[in-house]
Amino acid sequence: MSYLIQYRDRGFSGNPFDAGMDRTISCDVMPLEYPCEGNGDYRHTAFGARDMRGVSGCDLRYVSHTIKQGKYSLPGMPAVFASDAEAQTLRVELQDERLPVEVTLLYGVLPERDCITRSVIIRNAGQEDVVLENAASAALDFLTGDFDLMHFYGRHTAERTLERTPVTHQEMVIGSRRGASSHQQNPFVILAEHETGEDHGRCIGVSLMWSGSFSCRVGKDSYDQTRLTMGIQEERFNYLLTPGEVFTAPEAVIVLTDCGLTDLSQRFHQLISGHIIRDPWKGQERPVLINNWEATYMDFTGEKIVQIARQAAELGVDMMVLDDGWFGRRSSDHDGLGDWQVNEAKLGCTMHELAAKVKSLGMRFGLWIEPEMVNMASDLFRQHPDWAFIIPGKQPVRSRDQLVLDFSRREVVDNICAQLFSVLDGSGIDYIKMDMNRSINDVYSAVMERQSQGKVLYKYVLGVYNFMERLRKRYPAMLIEGCSGGGGRFDAGMLYYTPQIWCSDMTDPIERIRIQYGTSFGYPVHCMGAHVSVSPNEQTGRVTPINTRAVVAMAGTFGYELDLNLVSEEDKAAVRQQIRDFKCWQHLMQDGLYFRLTDGLDNREEAAWMLTAKDRSEALLSIVTLDIHDNAPIRYIRLKGLDADALYRDAQSGRTYTGAALMYAGLPVPKHRGEYVAWQMHLIREQHA
Ligand code: GLA
Repeated sequence: MSYLIQYRDRGFSGNPFDAGMDRTISCDVMPLEYPCEGNGDYRHTAFGARDMRGVSGCDLRYVSHTIKQGKYSLPGMPAVFASDAEAQTLRVELQDERLPVEVTLLYGVLPERDCITRSVIIRNAGQEDVVLENAASAALDFLTGDFDLMHFYGRHTAERTLERTPVTHQEMVIGSRRGASSHQQNPFVILAEHETGEDHGRCIGVSLMWSGSFSCRVGKDSYDQTRLTMGIQEERFNYLLTPGEVFTAPEAVIVLTDCGLTDLSQRFHQLISGHIIRDPWKGQERPVLINNWEATYMDFTGEKIVQIARQAAELGVDMMVLDDGWFGRRSSDHDGLGDWQVNEAKLGCTMHELAAKVKSLGMRFGLWIEPEMVNMASDLFRQHPDWAFIIPGKQPVRSRDQLVLDFSRREVVDNICAQLFSVLDGSGIDYIKMDMNRSINDVYSAVMERQSQGKVLYKYVLGVYNFMERLRKRYPAMLIEGCSGGGGRFDAGMLYYTPQIWCSDMTDPIERIRIQYGTSFGYPVHCMGAHVSVSPNEQTGRVTPINTRAVVAMAGTFGYELDLNLVSEEDKAAVRQQIRDFKCWQHLMQDGLYFRLTDGLDNREEAAWMLTAKDRSEALLSIVTLDIHDNAPIRYIRLKGLDADALYRDAQSGRTYTGAALMYAGLPVPKHRGEYVAWQMHLIREQHA
């Protein structure tokens, strides 16, 4: 393919010394695998380093490469896994002429999945320290193409809103500086050719398996070539690499398709299901849970929790989750974080007794934790004030009245592990919701030498991964749900440890539709935590039917977040039926192909989506109306992913349709009265037409 690279003398684009007098060779215009700062490439680069005199400028050159069967892994970090038959690893070794760094580019190739993963290992092979200023995970250079950048911005209770922006000669930067992947931007982006839609066109998705600060830069150079870089946040990234020390860049997962956005999303869904989520939850259906947060907030007793559980068990719920407030002196946001001792006075019993009571109802039992945080009003903070991120001489920024523990320190992680293990050991707790309720500020580690403070945020994320790995090892059957004020740390790295993540603190189903729509581009429905909550909704006050709330929560892990003792008999009957239905359809959520049927941003009339079995033998269609009119035009929803030639029977009405009719003519949205009406239709293939 080398013919694709054309050589021209480009003014003001310098030439490497060893090109001699050949002015047609320039790093400024050539596609580069790992562009670095200092070799005459003036575009945004992926790698930069300086020596201890502050002199930057490097020029990484090819040394050797190897290709081996199987996929590499990254010690202490999340990475795609695959069997030896499914993947190959390419390692390309690079060296710099001046700086003593050895750089290894890692490529994992999964041909069946049209997926390439990338990571970078950087080693100081010299006698002197080197400072890494930038070490992105991947760079993609495109010789041609007119792209849009699709990215997913948001805020607390409004995560992952799709924005599609043409890539121009102005560089675009998205990312997080918050220490977590964040509500504000997601480390998943798509480069889509302008004309690419759901069902056609070329697009490339890049997902960073990293739960900390990140940055993605995209822009066209002056010769209309597009460059994308993705990796950890380079701002304030000063990573001191001492002699012999190794730095590993998190893995970027790249998937390409020519068949449009639906196909790209389905490829990511399958990759996450089969190659990121690990046993025992890989491919496993998840319990329907009830969580007490919106029912009680921190105001509960053990008896109250049992009451909620009893009613839920009676209606078919599998698991009771006790949320925030069960430990230390935690009765409000202001105290208790860091003190992971069971508040038996508040519960009126021990945690073992409470778990046993819940289990006697035939339910499983789960617990909320927020291990990375500390309130100043806690015994932990009083004993170890230097364990929290506080910069000497500066008052820390508080958020939700809490500080962040320095998880870059092993003894801090050890202490929190020990406290939590003594609650969890032998308790029979089946599930943990692991929360993280603020952005990080005042990054300073009391034990890290002055020059090494630039490592703290990176090591912090490794500390969080270490914590979760220890939890997984000690309680192998436990289900861990990630959470960060809802979906503030919803990334592919997290999914390696937590097979599901609470999608958003927004439980209003109409708001949730947009959030789940955006999330669906990069992540499968079975990892999106979604619950039915009360109406009027706690966040927005919006009134919606219980059926609508369930239809939306079923495009997720499905559960409840209210006191079912307080709902009408009619709603209780509805809940019982919803759980039965969900269990019939759950294999579709877990293993089906997901299709977005309406445009989540432009369509103000209704939202529709469907899940289809991979063999097309059945499908579940969901429609929610967003607006209501009298005497309105009939609207039709066109289905996808069916067998055009087969007959499908609506399981409820018994009526049959051909797949072709459903896909090419569509189904009329039923006549309805009232706001936010929702329907589901389970279609079963009867016979080939
Ligand atoms: C976060 C979570 C909520 C709940 C609270 C508890 O906001 O997203 O679901 O657990 O914390 O404090």
